[in-house]
Parts: sequence; structure tokens; C-alpha cells
Amino acid sequence: MLNAMKLRGEKIAMLTGYDYSFARILDKAGIDVILVGDSASNVMAGYESTLPITLNEMIYHASSVVRAVERALVVVDMPFGTYQGNSKEALANAIRIMKETGAHAVKLEGGKEVCESVTRILSAGIPVMGHLGLTPQSIHKFGTYVVRAREEEEAKKLIEDAHLLEETGCFAIVLEKIPAKLAQQVAAELKIPIIGIGAGPHVDGQVLVLHDMLGITQEFSPRFLRRYHNLYAEISGAVQNYITDVRNVDFPNEKEQY
Ligand code: KIV
Repeated sequence: MLNAMKLRGEKIAMLTGYDYSFARILDKAGIDVILVGDSASNVMAGYESTLPITLNEMIYHASSVVRAVERALVVVDMPFGTYQGNSKEALANAIRIMKETGAHAVKLEGGKEVCESVTRILSAGIPVMGHLGLTPQSIHKFGTYVVRAREEEEAKKLIEDAHLLEETGCFAIVLEKIPAKLAQQVAAELKIPIIGIGAGPHVDGQVLVLHDMLGITQEFSPRFLRRYHNLYAEISGAVQNYITDVRNVDFPNEKEQY
């Protein structure tokens, strides 16, 4: 489906989703792909990085999303520590995600280093999405969340890794926070769809973290983020109105009781 969209020149719209209620809204609104991202570690659990979230927690989020979805493709992030290093464990963990959630595909971060895991997961018939550029699970290797692959050497490795992931069999790749020109080059060279976040407009689709684009999170404001709403202010206002009504015994009224 995503490949056909790339061939037709139709852009792919992807958002993260972590729970039943929001996933239902996204699916009915017509989103193409819901990513059950390990950003759940930040926006749902309040951790500072994506590292602490567990496989069981990702399975809980993903199964909630899948129960809501009738048409979108659901991709689940494999959390930190579930696919690096040991490809047999990677396959066992990917199988758990597919069996226990009903999702359609998994996503994992990295290039050459994770190719053995990608190959083994694909051998079981599980579609894999790649993720290059800023890879938040490696935050302790890089030390910051700044733009990646500005230098020639890192850009060259990213291009090589993207080709490798395509040759290995990934059906799409997320490119996070890299120069727009580099992302454009990768999208032009590869046949599989390239989905960008902070990677400019010349790719095959875009992804944002739902809570960021809805303005629920306030403190995270990278340049690439467009806020489509200020839900934080709206929800806060509604809660304040409720508190006032309860305190004034204005809620419940005559019609709101039995
Ligand atoms: O976990 C996540 O939300 C992601 C997106 C930022 C692509 O991987």
C-alpha cells in the first residue's frame, strides 16, 4: 500500500498513537499509518528518554491501538534492548509483538548494526520499517538530540545504511532530524517509501508525535514541529470550569441527575 502511494506520488501521513481512544480518532480521520512509537516512554509514561519502556508496555499500547483500527496500517516500535545484539531474541520479541497485539509491522532503529536482526525478523514474514538519522534509543552514544548527518562522513554512512535496509527487505524507512537535501537524495535513490520527521518536504511522507502536534506537550518545541492545536490550554480550561462548577454546586444540575 505505501509502495503504491510512493509510485503514485501520493504523500503518506503517519502519526503516533498509543491508546484506543486516540487511535480511533486517527483511523476515522483517514491517517495512513499509526506508529505505536516508543515515544510512549516520554509522552505516556513521563520518562526523559525512550530507553526505559518495556516490551510488555509496548504490547499493552499496541494492542489498545489495534482494537480501535479498521483501516490504517499499525507499526510498532521494538523497544530498546529487544533487538540489538541477538537476532534470535529479536525474532522472538517481534513474534510476541505480532501475536499479542495484532499489529501489521515492527520498526527498529539503526543500519548495518541491526541488519542481522532485520533479516531474521523478515524471515518469519514480519514486515520491518527502518529508522535512521536521529535514533533516540542511542541518545547515550551521541549525547544530544541535535540534527544528525550534517557532516559528510555521517551522511555517507546514512545513505549506505538506507540502501542496506532496502536491500535487506525493509518496506519503508523513517528518517529523523537530518538535512532536507540529504533526505531528498535518499528518497530519490530508494524505491521504498521514506517517511520524514524533521527531514524536510522532499520525502514520501511525514510523521509527528501526536501529543506534540496536538499541543498537549508544551516543553518540546523543535523547529520541525508544527502544532495544529493547543489542546493543553483547551483541556486545562475545561478542567478549571469543571472544578468551578463542582465547587459552586452548579454541576450536576436538575437534568444531570436521576
Ligand atoms: O517513537 C516515535 O515516536 C518515533 C517517531 C518519532 C518516528 O519513532
